[in-house]
Amino acid sequence: MKKILDLIAAEMKSAFAACGYEESYAKVVLSNRPDLCEYQCNGAMAAAKAYKKKPIDIANEVVEKLTGSQLFSECSAVMPGFINLRLDGQYLADYMNRMQQAEKLGLENLGCGETIIVDYGGANVAKPLHVGHLRSAVIGESIKRMGNFLGYHMIGDVHLGDWGLQMGLIIEELRDRKPELVYFDEDYTGEYPTEPPFTISELEDIYPTASGKAKEDEAFKERAQTATFKLQNGYAPFTAIWKHIMHVSLADLKKNYGNLDVHFDLWKGESDAEPYIPWLIQDLQDKGLAYESQGALVVDITEPADSKELPPCIVRKSDGAALYATSDLGTIIEREKEYQPVKYIYITDKRQELHFTQVFRVAKKAGYVKPETPMIHIGFGTMNGKDGKPFKTRDGGVMRLEHLIADINEAVYDRIMENRTMPEEEARETARIVGLAALKYGDLTNQAAKDYVFDLERFISFEGNTGPYILYTIVRIKSILAKYYEKHEAVKGQIIPAAGDSEKALMLEAAKYNDVLETAFAETAPHKICQYIFDLANAFNSFYHDNKILTEADPARQESWIQLITLVKDVLTTSIQVLGFDAPSRM
Ligand code: ARG
Repeated sequence: MKKILDLIAAEMKSAFAACGYEESYAKVVLSNRPDLCEYQCNGAMAAAKAYKKKPIDIANEVVEKLTGSQLFSECSAVMPGFINLRLDGQYLADYMNRMQQAEKLGLENLGCGETIIVDYGGANVAKPLHVGHLRSAVIGESIKRMGNFLGYHMIGDVHLGDWGLQMGLIIEELRDRKPELVYFDEDYTGEYPTEPPFTISELEDIYPTASGKAKEDEAFKERAQTATFKLQNGYAPFTAIWKHIMHVSLADLKKNYGNLDVHFDLWKGESDAEPYIPWLIQDLQDKGLAYESQGALVVDITEPADSKELPPCIVRKSDGAALYATSDLGTIIEREKEYQPVKYIYITDKRQELHFTQVFRVAKKAGYVKPETPMIHIGFGTMNGKDGKPFKTRDGGVMRLEHLIADINEAVYDRIMENRTMPEEEARETARIVGLAALKYGDLTNQAAKDYVFDLERFISFEGNTGPYILYTIVRIKSILAKYYEKHEAVKGQIIPAAGDSEKALMLEAAKYNDVLETAFAETAPHKICQYIFDLANAFNSFYHDNKILTEADPARQESWIQLITLVKDVLTTSIQVLGFDAPSRM
């Protein structure tokens, strides 16, 4: 379905053209004075300069041409030359009816199945997920869902950190704990055991211990580096340990991402880039892009338009080791080979911005990615505690994601039980659904690049700009509908022109739906959807406050309201699914 703003703009364009003015002056925007009008066109002011006329004269001429238009109930020229517009009630009601009939509520496909890679999650194997990974997972999942909904073929890749020093650290700590294991017997030639030599809880203890040791014990760190090097060069016993680490850790990561309702299409990682790296290094040298600098191999990435000097991208260290950038480049080569995406979207902490600038420029310079393929890095800000510092546990440690989720669920559970009774099991399940919405909405409602404060009390509140408030609104609509259908058959009547201001305001809000979703995806900005559903929920609640839906005496009016609130519920439900959470049946 065409966007309502485009329909209005088309009508304005023909009016401008009919008066002999360029169509491009006919731009229409939402009114910034809702008390005066709903939409406005400021084009007469700009046209006045070009045609050497008074803006108000042009505005009057255009308004004259619009008499009899089916789109507007009001169209007036006001000084110095604004054209104020109000939409015709029947036209708006028809638009609502068409939305309700249309597939995807009138949202048109932007894509035709083109592949877009979304690289998000970024968990590191053998390290528990902590709050630092939360934002990437939440934002990435929502962008992926938006794209799929708009007709693209989104491929979400978790891109695990599974190849770095943490692997060597674990191997050496394991050697210290269990030196008798066959992996450490150089003379062993048999098969390696299929049973992992540790459980997930042991693994979670091994890594931090080893990482602590490496900071104090230089010899241990060197052993870990050597082990990492051996692993990366295919040393069989360490490859066997690595497989166990992957197996045990992945099961746990999948469970944790699943609890966040975050799902990846690919569970690839840095290790998958490994086979491409020797070719990559050679190719960069053959193309004359990579050169030796202080023993390392680097690629210059500066461009004439840069306002500050950017350091070159290091693709090989002086000791021969590959780096983070090398593995990202190797991954790009693999992705081009396997998926030929039309776009890349990476979601990480914004402190990685330089890294991605370097990687993207090398990828383009070397011709691995087509010049026209957008490569986007969405760098997000930090989730802070109320003290304004990065969020920590009460005793100052790194907060594990599972604990954070458990805390939220507990708090929501208490709130639910405060003023009503619900069977324990249902209350727990509801708390889980509402808690996830609180967490995700609390994050997504902020512009990604900004830091935000994680405020549990505020996030779980049923009032204000929160996830639970949105869910509460959906649940409220569902309950009105349930009560209505207890006494009525399926509604046949259509949505008729609004009788009151809050009703029309609600329709105007609902009509923005396709525009908002398209814009949010084009700008990779989930916060725009949050802002929209908050406005829509507010509009619904004002409408609800002004009208007694269930006791309305006029059946045509009542049926229209039932249709309208069903549409609003569908818009809200679709929007939250795209954001990555669901509504409970009651709360
Ligand atoms: N594992 C990385 C980290 O924890 C994030 C990976 C992001 N993705 C990428 N392609 N570099 O910082």
